Amino acid sequence: MGLGSAAMNETARKMVAPGKGILAADESSGTIKKRFDTIGVESTEESRAFYRGLLFSADGAEDTIGGVIMFDETLRQSDADGIPFVQVLSDKGIVPGIKVDKGAKQIAGSSDETVTEGLDGLRERLAEYFKIGARFAKWRSVIQIGNEIPTWNGIKSDAHALARYAALCQEAGIVPIVEPEVLMNGNHNIERCYEVTRLTLQTTFDELFDAGVAFDSMVLKPNMVISGLDAESQASPEQIAEMSVSCFNEVVPASVPGIAFLSGGQTELEATANLNAMNAMEQEHPWELSFSYGRALQQSALAAWRGNPANRDAAQQAFLHRARMNGLARSGLWNPECENDSRLR
Ligand code: 13P
Repeated sequence: MGLGSAAMNETARKMVAPGKGILAADESSGTIKKRFDTIGVESTEESRAFYRGLLFSADGAEDTIGGVIMFDETLRQSDADGIPFVQVLSDKGIVPGIKVDKGAKQIAGSSDETVTEGLDGLRERLAEYFKIGARFAKWRSVIQIGNEIPTWNGIKSDAHALARYAALCQEAGIVPIVEPEVLMNGNHNIERCYEVTRLTLQTTFDELFDAGVAFDSMVLKPNMVISGLDAESQASPEQIAEMSVSCFNEVVPASVPGIAFLSGGQTELEATANLNAMNAMEQEHPWELSFSYGRALQQSALAAWRGNPANRDAAQQAFLHRARMNGLARSGLWNPECENDSRLR
């Protein structure tokens, strides 16, 4: 008996169903504080629940959002009427998910490479998360491009941890999102990003295979193949699309139901335009090409909210707008004019 199942395959396909993607709202306490700092809002248990609650309950979010990734605290919180967020989401047909990694920590002997931790006690945590209602999980590893990095030790360590995590998830009946993120930070060109992404994914899938992970019961969450943030010249959406899909065609098994990108520091519009270019391409691909954006789905919503309860509706509209734009990008139907089309608001 393998680790996969028909139920997990169905959940994975629901998360990345045509026209839909995933909202990453699983910022750790430190990260959400940083996001709230940008709008001058104090990060408290109440402010976090209010903000996340407004996203989850936005009317019509279910049209373009198939899954939401939460942080441990949020998975246990409820809306103002006392309805658990897990239920708010499930009632709308949105799959609740949980971030289970404990963050990227410095690798021994290296000042600039990390390995993601969180395997100890994970089996027990997953059993509890399943009981609470989570049906998928996320684990993010971080690969930085630099002069001497990534090293083979760095890539291999993260790939191995991802595989152990994914196998434990499937054993618990939880769909693993496997997220090996090659960071955009740096002045490298898109070709270097291609090479590092290809090696990272190849190594990750080798490890997943060795651990017995069923490819049809998982979702891959990679970076796009893209120029470094400080690179001299920036690749166009068409080049990003072409190189990303070529890279994945080389190393991602066809039985993986979906590839859901992280936005990783792209602006909201860049993340939408790049996803759109991928889905508008002629090139065939066996997996859904979708989104699992954090910042690129939330920046406008945060700015519209600014911690004022009176701005709840405006923040919801800002979030729904981005969700709809990315929903269009799922089938290559977005163009810049859609941003101002009142029928799409
Ligand atoms: P960004 O889209 O902001 O990169 O966040 C996605 C995510 O979940 C990173 O782990």
